[in-house]
Amino acid sequence: MFTFHRSTSPILNSGSEGVPANMSEDEIRRIEELRSLIQEHNVAYYENDAPTISDAEWDLLMQELKDLEDKFPETKTPDSPTEQIGGSPSNIFSPVTHSVPMMSLDNAFEIGELEQWIKKLQRKLNSDSPIGDLVCELKFDGLAISVRYENGELVQAATRGDGAVGEDVTHNVLTIEDIPKTIGNAPEVLEVRGEVYLRISEFEKLNAIAEETGAKKYVNPRNAAAGSLRQKDSRIAAQRKLSFWAYQLGDVVGAPELNSHYATLDYLRKLGLPVNENAQRISNGVKGLERYISDFKLKKEHFDYEFDGIVIKVDDLGTQGRLGATAKAPRWAIAYKLPPEEQVTTLIDIEISIGAAGSATPFARLEPVFVGGVTVSTATLHNEDQIREKDVRPGDTVIVRRAGEVIPEVVGPVLEKRPTGLPQWNFPENCPSCGLKLSRPIGEARHRCTNYSCPRQIRGRVEHFSQRTAMDIEHLGEQTIDLFVTKGLIKDVGDLYSLDFEKIKSLEGFGDLSVENLKKAITLSKSRPLGNLIFGLSIAHVGRTNADLLASEFGSMEKLMNVGLEELEEIEGLGPVIAKSVYEFFRASKNKEVIGKLSEAGINLSGPIDDGLEKVLTGKSIVITGTLKGFTRDEAADAVKKRGGKCPGSVSGKTDALVLGENPGGSKVSKAEQLGVPILDEMKFEKLLQTGEIELS
Ligand code: IVH
Repeated sequence: MFTFHRSTSPILNSGSEGVPANMSEDEIRRIEELRSLIQEHNVAYYENDAPTISDAEWDLLMQELKDLEDKFPETKTPDSPTEQIGGSPSNIFSPVTHSVPMMSLDNAFEIGELEQWIKKLQRKLNSDSPIGDLVCELKFDGLAISVRYENGELVQAATRGDGAVGEDVTHNVLTIEDIPKTIGNAPEVLEVRGEVYLRISEFEKLNAIAEETGAKKYVNPRNAAAGSLRQKDSRIAAQRKLSFWAYQLGDVVGAPELNSHYATLDYLRKLGLPVNENAQRISNGVKGLERYISDFKLKKEHFDYEFDGIVIKVDDLGTQGRLGATAKAPRWAIAYKLPPEEQVTTLIDIEISIGAAGSATPFARLEPVFVGGVTVSTATLHNEDQIREKDVRPGDTVIVRRAGEVIPEVVGPVLEKRPTGLPQWNFPENCPSCGLKLSRPIGEARHRCTNYSCPRQIRGRVEHFSQRTAMDIEHLGEQTIDLFVTKGLIKDVGDLYSLDFEKIKSLEGFGDLSVENLKKAITLSKSRPLGNLIFGLSIAHVGRTNADLLASEFGSMEKLMNVGLEELEEIEGLGPVIAKSVYEFFRASKNKEVIGKLSEAGINLSGPIDDGLEKVLTGKSIVITGTLKGFTRDEAADAVKKRGGKCPGSVSGKTDALVLGENPGGSKVSKAEQLGVPILDEMKFEKLLQTGEIELS
């Protein structure tokens, strides 16, 4: 094994001032390790456009190195990655020396760091001269270029390279539609700086083609953009439909005097350059920054291009000049990095979860990792085909993605890190819970456990039945259910109503009070509306909305159980798959038995409990779109249903009215207009609930 000796440390021989006495050998070794690791990753990222780690992981390495160098400034060397900008220009393209260096940006990861940054600038400016407004912009995830116009003609375009010297990529930039080739009313010299990027939709098209032709897929739009721009043959860039955002000026001769960054953006826009519309002037300091950041964090998924942070710039150009720059980055700007949406971690194992209706879903057990703002230790793997396609194997290093509020997923393995001989994973033949054979019906992607008495399925069904939106049984948590199933006290949801409470009292963790509470909660659940009960039965494909639809269509469990398949198929909004599932559910003797138990226990099986509301909307079909002020979507739908109406998810010829809230999505409004369906605002909707009358405007 390699052992480290102070005397052989390259730090000592690399022009630094020597190893500080208080620095441990581990720290010295780590600094060296970090430098060489980052160097390797920089080559993969900047020069080969094929990174092997996520940006987030790179950021972490860099931060660790910076922290160590800050702690021991004597160890800093001019060739440390912390002192470099980007990658070295390759020798495939002619070098372009930037007349104004293309700098990098310092990073911040927390709001507190922005506060510190503002304070630091304030100190630098002296307290009598304020920083003034700030401008927030998106930090586009592409690659920086400089485009030079002389007398309105595009004469040269270059990558950033190492900040001083870039690569001449004019031939490729000329293929980018967004970038004007000539500019009217232009100054003598105008160097525009900005980001070349690939729209997500274009990236997906590109990878779909790569898939078909067996070509190598790109990891993300940024690398695809960089890979396209750094090609000798400009036909490749032309096919790839690159885009561009302008955000800065470089060398300029003969332009009108500009006083602020915001005015610069306006000027660029007026010259016909694409300037992103989300730049905002912020005049209330950190509060405003915080607001902009949280706003765009939430909206991120709705964009067709990627951004991995927010760039904050001092607006006043005079103030920018006074603040100046360090060797690497301007002091007047900073990049706030959004929490990483992709991270790299180890796939410990692939396990199977068994759902309430028996579906067997594989999921990844992961080495915990911070991604998308939370710590993730499991991620879905969907089904056997997806695992095959991604070819992920236990023991692999994998990329995990969690964007917004969506469930984390495993994107794929980092093949470079796969240990040799790692065996492929095969879907288990038997259910991990009951041990019986799993089956995969022909034409379906999912495996199933078909054993109705599988303990995992029983647990799933009871949990589903007792949840708030179904029978709402308080004091019946996961652990209690688990215990009851293990002890054989319940085999199906019907058994909940004949529980042996004396026996339960003798179980560990139960006392008189907890048993009494549970008893009460179970009794209370007997009078839930029919829709809740239908939903609670775990009929495959039947969610809350369809359960309500069935309840209002048939009004009683008896009718629903005896209805024919055709009649079910005719119900508007149900669809053939759900109709078949409902029909089959009530043919199974096990399910009939459960309903028998529920009936015996005196559960409400015949329509909603009368809530005293007049059924003014009986026979009416009301669709809701957008956000209402006084109701959530569920509440509004509930209000319609409680008055006898239906609330389907889409507009059709049978719709009586469309209720329109703010920010409506989809095509509901145009469809309603086409079909002449009345459109109601929230006030008219409230009247409708009271009177049942549709007020036309
Ligand atoms: S300004 C001197 N604005 O971030 C300031 N950069 O880490 C130069 N970037 O090389 C950069 N969006 O590739 C600026 N709105 C934006 C940006 C942006 C993305 C990139 C750019 C730059 C890197 C710095």
